[in-house]
Amino acid sequence: MKMKNFLSIADFSEAELMHILEVSIQLKKELKAGGNKPILQGKSMALLFQKASLRTRVSFEMGMNQLGGYAFYLSPDEIGLGKREAVKDVAQVLAGYVDAIMARVFKHEHILELAEYSGIPVINGLSDYNHPCQGMADILTILEEFGTLEGINVAFIGDGNNVAVSLMDACAKMGANFAIANPAGYDMPENAVAAAQAFAQISGSTLSFGNDPFETVKNAQVIYTDTWISMGQEAETEARIQIFQPYQVNRELLSAAPKEAIVMHCLPSHRGQEITDEVQDGPQSRVFPQAHNRLHAQKGVMACLLADL
Ligand code: CP
Ligand code: NVA
Repeated sequence: MKMKNFLSIADFSEAELMHILEVSIQLKKELKAGGNKPILQGKSMALLFQKASLRTRVSFEMGMNQLGGYAFYLSPDEIGLGKREAVKDVAQVLAGYVDAIMARVFKHEHILELAEYSGIPVINGLSDYNHPCQGMADILTILEEFGTLEGINVAFIGDGNNVAVSLMDACAKMGANFAIANPAGYDMPENAVAAAQAFAQISGSTLSFGNDPFETVKNAQVIYTDTWISMGQEAETEARIQIFQPYQVNRELLSAAPKEAIVMHCLPSHRGQEITDEVQDGPQSRVFPQAHNRLHAQKGVMACLLADL
C-alpha cells in the first residue's frame, strides 16, 4: 500500500485501514512468536514532542527498534518547535537527516506544515484536533475483542476531544456505531462531525451526539473515556472538574450498560475523575491491552509508510 503520511484516519478508506490493521496483527503475531524481520533496516525516524508522553514515545521507539530501524526522541525544550525555530525550517532540516518524522504538537496546523515542508512521511502522534495512532490501537483492540468492527456500539463519555475525533473517524470508516455523551459546550468539532457523517453514510454506521451518559451507554459494547483536561487546558482544570463530574465512568454507569461491555481509556487516566479505580482495575477494563496495542498498531502504520507493505 502506498501511503504518504499518517495524519488522520479520515484520510484513508475502509480497505486501507483494514490493511493497516491486518499488517499490525501479523507483526504482533510475529513478535509473540519470537521476533520481527528487520523490514525497516536502515530507516530512521525523529520523534518530535511538544507535549509529554509515555505510550507514544516508548511504543514508537520500541516499534522502530523491533522492525530493525532507528528512532530517537526530541524533547519539547530541546527543539522549541515554532519557538526556537520555525516549523517549516525544522521540517526541512530533519528531512536531510531522517526518513520520517513522528510529531506530537499543540496546533494541528503544525502537523500539516511539517508534512508539507519536510516532503518525508509524517506521522501525527497527537494534536489538539486528533490522535489517529490512538484510533488505530483502539479499533485493533475492539476487533480483537469482538472479531469484527461492523455494527459494534461504541460509547464515548466525556469531552469531545482529540481522542474522541479519531475514535469517531475510525468507527465511521469501519462500520462501527459511535455515540458520545458530553456536557453542553464540550461538543466535538463541527468539521469532524460533518466529515464523519459522510463516512458513516458509506459504511452504514450510525453516529449519535447527546448529553446523557446513562442513555448513551444503554446498548454499548464499548464504553470509552478520556481525561477531562487535555494537555494545554490546565488553566481550566477547576471548572472542568465541576462540569464533567456527571460523566464519570463508575460502577453506577456500568450498571446501566450491557454486562458484556468492555471499558477503554487511551491513558493516562485520572483515577477518581473520569474513571474510578474500581472500573479501571475491574474485569471489564481493557485499558492495558489497549495501551499495548499502540505498539502493534503503530508498527503496522510504519510498515505501510516505510516498507510499502
Ligand atoms: N495515549 C497516549 O497517547 O499516551 P501518551 O500521552 O503517554 O503518549
Ligand atoms: N486528550 C488527551 C489525550 C492524551 C493521550 C490530551 O490531549 O491530553
